[in-house]
Amino acid sequence: MELCDGLRSRRTIRKFLDKKVSRETVLEILTDAHWAPSASNQQPWNFYVVTGEPLTRLCSAIQTAHKEKKKAYDPSKGKTIPARYVARTKKFFKDLRPAINSLGDENRTFIESGSFRFYDAPVVIIVAMHKNMPQSRLMDIGMAAENLMLSAHARGLGSCAIALTLLYADVIHTALGISDDLDTVLCIALGYTDSDFPLNTFRSSRENIEELIMWVGFDV
Ligand SMILES: Cc1cc2nc3c(=O)[nH]c(=O)nc-3n(C[C@H](O)[C@H](O)[C@H](O)COP(=O)(O)O)c2cc1C
Repeated sequence: MELCDGLRSRRTIRKFLDKKVSRETVLEILTDAHWAPSASNQQPWNFYVVTGEPLTRLCSAIQTAHKEKKKAYDPSKGKTIPARYVARTKKFFKDLRPAINSLGDENRTFIESGSFRFYDAPVVIIVAMHKNMPQSRLMDIGMAAENLMLSAHARGLGSCAIALTLLYADVIHTALGISDDLDTVLCIALGYTDSDFPLNTFRSSRENIEELIMWVGFDV
């Protein structure tokens, strides 16, 4: 796959085929992730790769915690997100609504319930970073995560970055025995794409790029 084609054709996948992903394939994908740039080449990423019975146990631990605590997701982390970004969230969910509705009434909250079970992906990758790293190093993690998702796409797999589950990062830490030195910063569901699933054919929109660019020093 041409790199630029891959960048533009990747999309979030929220249902996977009942097909195993081999350890070799995951290793190839994580090796691509590992070639991401990072500040001073610190490579601050740590990957916990979970499948099988431990993944089933992890999902049920998260679901139990959610039933008990029902924590509300606060993407703004107490800050006031400017209205134009809130409007983009609203547009995203409005655009997605017909595909969600087509799943039936019992799936009204599909994004929330699906995220808490990692959309039943055969493999979940938990990305963690040392607690003492400055927040700015999350840039490096993001770069590795995008490499990971593009590599998966190029190899015929799909992925979904999942932040909602970080509400229960403590549960993830306990279930996987993650070192106390590490913070869980992102979860990524990984598997072979179920191409027939309505949400998997959904294409999220983008703002007009020209409105987000300030050209400086270019001829008009
Ligand atoms: C950091 C991050 C966290 C995300 N968290 C979730 C999540 O918890 N649940 C979910 O279904 N999608 C999640 N997504 C997927 C976004 O909704 C998706 O990337 C966005 O709508 C753009 O769509 P696209 O990936 O298909 O281009 C997340 C994406 C990112 C980058």
